[in-house]
Formats: sequence, structure tokens, C-alpha cells
Amino acid sequence: MPFTANRDYKASPRIVASAKGMYYYDQQGRGILDGTAGLWCVPAGHSHPKIVEAVQQAIATLDYAPAFQMGHPAAFEFAEQLIEYTGHKFGQVFYTNSGSEAVDTAMKMVLAYHRARGEAQRTRFIGRERAYHGVGFGGMSVGGLPANRKQFGPLLQGVDYLRHTALPENRFSKGLPEHGAELADDLERLIQLHDVSTIAAVIVEPVSGSAGVILPPAGYLQRLRQLCDQHGILLIFDEVITGFGRLTTPFASDYFGVTPDLMTTAKGLTNGVVPMGAVFSHPKIYQTLTDSPAGIEFFHGYTYSGHPLACAAGLATLQVFKEEGILHHAAGMASYWESALHSLKGLPHVTDIRNLGLIGAIELETVPGKPGARAMAVYKKAFAEGVLIRTTGDIIALSPPLILDKSHIDVLFAKLHDILSHPESF
Ligand SMILES: Cc1ncc(COP(=O)(O)O)c(C=O)c1O
Repeated sequence: MPFTANRDYKASPRIVASAKGMYYYDQQGRGILDGTAGLWCVPAGHSHPKIVEAVQQAIATLDYAPAFQMGHPAAFEFAEQLIEYTGHKFGQVFYTNSGSEAVDTAMKMVLAYHRARGEAQRTRFIGRERAYHGVGFGGMSVGGLPANRKQFGPLLQGVDYLRHTALPENRFSKGLPEHGAELADDLERLIQLHDVSTIAAVIVEPVSGSAGVILPPAGYLQRLRQLCDQHGILLIFDEVITGFGRLTTPFASDYFGVTPDLMTTAKGLTNGVVPMGAVFSHPKIYQTLTDSPAGIEFFHGYTYSGHPLACAAGLATLQVFKEEGILHHAAGMASYWESALHSLKGLPHVTDIRNLGLIGAIELETVPGKPGARAMAVYKKAFAEGVLIRTTGDIIALSPPLILDKSHIDVLFAKLHDILSHPESF
């Protein structure tokens, strides 16, 4: 099983059989409040009738269409609506089937772009410590989670890393942390070391999720953008978790007022209903790549790029976002969410609490010699008692569907309060 302790799982399996709105249901029909939107995937809530209907209609109309040298209406319609949803900050969308593929696609686009501009020597990527960019060899190489890398050899060569921004002085910050914008200047140091002429792109998650919710210090992303502009380096935002409303704006780039050159997305793109990812790119990238002799300009793509069912799910998701004012609703919940989350401060073993938009993280003190064991015990107890949370290491990460209301927030944090108040049980 993916990212699962298989033997431990077999000893006490957890199965969900159906889902609706804010809840999963197990095989006995017991409701489990979803505090994580699946895996950050379901902003509009589970089994939304409009999305279900759109996918049902799509499968009855066009089951599959090759994406090479031909297209279908929903693929273009969805791309147009997505570009509009970005406020036309990007010019093109390239479909993939996952976030990992979106990251690898964006990296290949960057290399092809520099080559087409006559700077083929710009091949070096700058990632960041404690970053997660999926499990393809590109994403793993620019990612900075040791456990995800150590089994898989040398990975891509020519990658270097900014330091992460999880600073102890920012503990228990509400919203954006104050300290650490200067960590963006690591890029200057790496430019000195490698020479700017070799650096193709910097890739960061605007807010990291899988490493346990690490927030960018105020001003950090702005500084990174400035340095990239100054040195002709492309900036990629990996918005696989932050895209589609997680920070109460369409994308994190809107929240921070920083537009990258490329943006990778997945998950909420189709409300998690059909696997899909997408790379958004600045028009200069498409223009440069297509300003070449006739023929295929970018030798890349997937059998299922722009799958009709995924496009139908995505179009319906955008419609639901608009019709139901999901971002507006989420924005209305954010301060209640923040207060409820931070009310856990002071409970046994809680060493930090972080939040932004409808994201929350509770960091627990690690049991000596047993990293991750304490958070995992909380996870199992919460699931047994009807609440789904997520853990990475000893950090509990929360990212509920954006449709939640105050009563769901109350239930989620009352349960966590109860569990964390009884440290003898985890
Ligand atoms: C920031 C980020 N990038 C990439 C990925 C990989 O996405 P996928 O699991 O769809 O391949 C994830 C998954 O959680 C992610 O959080």
C-alpha cells in the first residue's frame, strides 16, 4: 500500500466504503468526519451531486479520447475556464494525471524552454529542504524529505536546496510567521556557488503540506520572486495542495500576490473525483517553445492527458465553486478555525501549532527513539472515534473540505482536545 506501514495496517485495517459531504462512512455505516479532505483533494465536499452527474454524463458520451494530435471539446473548455480562474495570469494548461506528473512535466518544460532560448546550459534545479513534490524522479530529486529519497539511489544530478523555513522562533504563530524572510537569500548563495548561467528554475510549495505544514515567513516568497527575476531563473510554485481554495483564494499565488512562471496543480482540480494534474505556464513559455520549425514542439505527454471524465469533473468543480461561493464560505471560517486550532496550545506534548487559510498543524513532542509513533497513535485513536486526521512524522496536519461549518470545527477540535488531554492513551 502507498506510504503505509503494511504490517501495522494489516493488524488493524481502516476501511472507508462511501462518502458524502463532510463525512466518510465505513462498512457498518459509521460516519467519520473528514478533517483532511481525503488527501487534501476534496474542497467541495464528497460525492457532490453536480460533479457526480457531470462524470456520469461524460462517461456515457465520450469514454476516452487520444490526446496526441487530436482533442475533444471538454479539454479545451476546461483549459479556458482554468486560465480564466487564474485571472489570466497564465496562458496555457498542460494536463497530467497526478501532482507528481505535473511536477516532472513542469521541470521538462523549464529545460525545453531554456534550450529553445539558446541557454541549454541552464539545467540546474533549486528545491528546498523538507519539500514534497511527489514521487517521480524529478519531484523526488527536488524534494527534501529524506525518507522519500533514501531508498532510490542518486536521483537527478545538478540539484541544490534552499534551507527550509521551519524556525523555532516562529512557534505558535497565528497565520504567517514573522521571522525568516531572509532565508530566501539562500538563492544568492547558490547562485554564487553554481553560477547563475547553470540555474534553470527554483521550485517551492508556497505552503508545504506533506512535510507537516511549513509556512513561508512574511515576505519570503516575494523575495524569492524578486531574486528569480533579477537572475533570469524561472520560478515554479507547486500548488498541488494549495490550489483550489485551500488558503481561501483560488491559488496560493493569489493569497501572496506572487505569480510564478509555472504552477503545478492536481487534487482539488477535479475535487479528487478523477485523477488529474495540470501545469499552468506563462505565455512566454508556450511562445518560446512554439517559435520553432514545424513539428512537435514538446516531446512529452500521457495517454490519459485531458481524459474526458477528468475534464468533466473539473468543469463541474469550477461551476460548484462559483455557484456555492466556496471560497467566500472558506474565508468566513478561517478565523474560527484559527482560534479553535490554537485552543489546543498547552496540552501535553504539543510543541507547536501553525495555521493558514483552512490548513492547520499540531506538532507533538517525539517519543525518544520512536519518531512518528505519538502522532500515529493519535491518528488511530481519532479514526476509531470518528474523526479523520493526517500525520507526517509527529505532526498532525489538518485540511478539511472547504464546505465545513462551525459545528464541524467544534467536533474536530473537541475530539483532538479530548485525545491530547489524555497522554497516557497515546
Ligand atoms: C506539493 C505536492 N506536490 C506533488 C504531490 C504529488 O501529487 P500526487 O500524489 O498526485 O502525485 C503532492 C501530493 O501530496 C504534493 O503535496
